[in-house]
Amino acid sequence: MILSGHAKLAGVMGWPVGHSLSPRLHGYWLDKHGIDGAYVPLPVRPDAFPGAVRALAALGFRGANLTIPHKEAALALCDTLDAAAQRIGSVNTLVFGDGRIEGRNSDAFGFIENLRDGAPAWRASAAPAVVLGAGGAARAVIVSLLDAGAQEVRLCNRTPARAEALAEDIGVGDMKGAVVCVPWDARANALSGAGLLVNTTSLGMAGHGALDLALDDLPTSALVTDIVYTPLETDLLRRARARGHAAVDGLGMLLHQARPGFEAWFGVTPEVTPELRAFVLNRD
Ligand code: ATR
Repeated sequence: MILSGHAKLAGVMGWPVGHSLSPRLHGYWLDKHGIDGAYVPLPVRPDAFPGAVRALAALGFRGANLTIPHKEAALALCDTLDAAAQRIGSVNTLVFGDGRIEGRNSDAFGFIENLRDGAPAWRASAAPAVVLGAGGAARAVIVSLLDAGAQEVRLCNRTPARAEALAEDIGVGDMKGAVVCVPWDARANALSGAGLLVNTTSLGMAGHGALDLALDDLPTSALVTDIVYTPLETDLLRRARARGHAAVDGLGMLLHQARPGFEAWFGVTPEVTPELRAFVLNRD
């Protein structure tokens, strides 16, 4: 795309950022919609982050995505935060306008849209969900499940204090008691009667340990999903499919979480299609 002097600009800030699929993903949509705009990788060291955000806004960028390690640091920099960013406790999308910095979080949206896309028959309210892990990704997953009507989320993490802190933070108001902490050693039993199993730990990712989890107690009607998408077909998803479960891989969450930012910066609502998936996966 040859840019004009009016080109709309956005990018992704991270450290490192070279592994990010976002420039390829947004570049596909920009090209597909013939938009006069660009989305660029922005490698920003943690100590340079506040200055870099202000500089981007001053340079006329429409906004940016944030990835590790900037998602939490952004909370203090934003003039306004949307409800999701406040509840999840991190920002993945910045929108600049009228001299203000707006922080949003579209990870919960991306998670639930991916499930709706990949398993249209699944209903959050139908049966308990089991979530493995209590890091940043788990926070977004649990917020999205509660918003989608889940009555019970069984949260299972190796470090119990982390799970308890997350349950305390998120299970507030009407949702008090909806997030139940389960000891890591009891994870296989927690699958009994569940309608959804989500892995948000790094187990199963290339270069990390294996996820040791017997699926025998999981009803075959349950949907199984993994936040990990390297490899795309994790051992968990492979074993789940072999048992007859519907299974949804983690790439779709990345693709769907990108949609609200693209719309805010470039003014077009983009779609997640099989062609987009293939394009993003084929990095050569
Ligand atoms: P993110 O913010 O991307 O979710 P994270 O904060 O590093 O990443 O969280 C990784 C998750 O994987 C955590 O829930 C972690 O468990 P702890 O809270 O006990 O650290 C989990 N995890 C990583 N390695 C693990 C292992 N070997 N066994 C069990 N859980 C593991």
